[in-house]
Amino acid sequence: MSGGGSDRKPATRLVTGGRRKEWTGAVVNPPVWRASTHLYDSVADLRAGPTTNEDGRFFYGRRGSPTQWALAEALTELEPGGHGTMLFPSGVSAIACALLAVLRPGDVLLMTDSSYDPTRSYAEAFLKKWGVETRYYDPLVGAGISDLICDRTRAIMMESPGSLTFEIQDVPAICAAAQERGVITLLDNTWAASYFFRGIERGVDITILAGTKYIVGHSDVMLGSVTCREKYWQRLRRTAQQLGQVISPDDAYLALRGLRTLDVRMRQHQESGLTIARWLSQKPQIAKVLHPALPDCPGHATWQRDFSGSAGLFSFVLDGGDDEAAASLIDGLELFGIGYSWGGYESLALPVDPAPDRTATKWQTEGPVIRLNIGLEDCDDLIADLAKGLERYEKAACKR
Ligand SMILES: Cc1ncc(COP(=O)(O)O)c(C=O)c1O
Repeated sequence: MSGGGSDRKPATRLVTGGRRKEWTGAVVNPPVWRASTHLYDSVADLRAGPTTNEDGRFFYGRRGSPTQWALAEALTELEPGGHGTMLFPSGVSAIACALLAVLRPGDVLLMTDSSYDPTRSYAEAFLKKWGVETRYYDPLVGAGISDLICDRTRAIMMESPGSLTFEIQDVPAICAAAQERGVITLLDNTWAASYFFRGIERGVDITILAGTKYIVGHSDVMLGSVTCREKYWQRLRRTAQQLGQVISPDDAYLALRGLRTLDVRMRQHQESGLTIARWLSQKPQIAKVLHPALPDCPGHATWQRDFSGSAGLFSFVLDGGDDEAAASLIDGLELFGIGYSWGGYESLALPVDPAPDRTATKWQTEGPVIRLNIGLEDCDDLIADLAKGLERYEKAACKR
């Protein structure tokens, strides 16, 4: 059994990806090769070995082992048109390295105003000190990105949908404009997990995943990955290696285990997420539901055109009330944990405020915003829990 076969359907590729016989042996999954030192039979063997930089050959622990190679290969298969994947110990380290691999001091980076806030902080702190200027753009800019490209623009960072606010970007239009001007495109594709949206196929040069979320899927591993076209592969690989980036084989094993069930999990996240989003949108306490599959979400038509599904993460805006009223909704929930991550099997609720992270656009709402990660619990139970939460919110909002 080997991965291969990008002509196969995505669900099949999730099952076969990375399962080369030379990596798995006689069992289904590649074993956990826990090693720093790789041994050679003799000095002659050492000299004949891959002292230069080769993929998929034993060399030294930092270059990985079959467990990590299998995961990297399976992730590459999620992005048709991708040449290879580098693995990172978190989504943020993947974003940082991908940007570092393509930018040079003096460059301008265009970044969507809806970016994940640590991506923004990295640009403002690290990249700025390193001589890169970041300019933010309206996530809904589409082909209008052309007007923002100048001689110094090296790269465009996209995230679709946007963190917290869920605007869908016209990625193909942005990529077409970028390509015409020789600008490199990067996409944080974590929400779609490279499964409901295949970025490289749609024109993106480099796609990034926080594997911590849906790829791992069980809230027990931090992971990042970067997949890119052949043109950028050596640059990405060299930068990651120079920075000493490596993930443990145990984490790679858990990520592979999660990846095998991504299709069924994503379908359930989608179904429950949509049911709950639609239910919330009918409630008088809710001003707005920010979910790409709902018709009033900015960029919904683009989502319909480009995506094959929707994930279980979305936000809603309460119709008035203050942070304490929102907290009374969240605090009494029995099935929703309060925590920063998402993409796991368990539901989460988080108060969020998109406003401070906006500079190119303004974020104004009728009330507090809550982000939900819809997990794999029974949807009726989640709705019953949220219904009680809305009652608590209403009482708290009336008292003030
Ligand atoms: C959209 C997005 N990208 C990247 C990351 C960063 O991933 P990690 O937490 O693995 O560093 C996150 C984390 O929440 C995220 O939401």
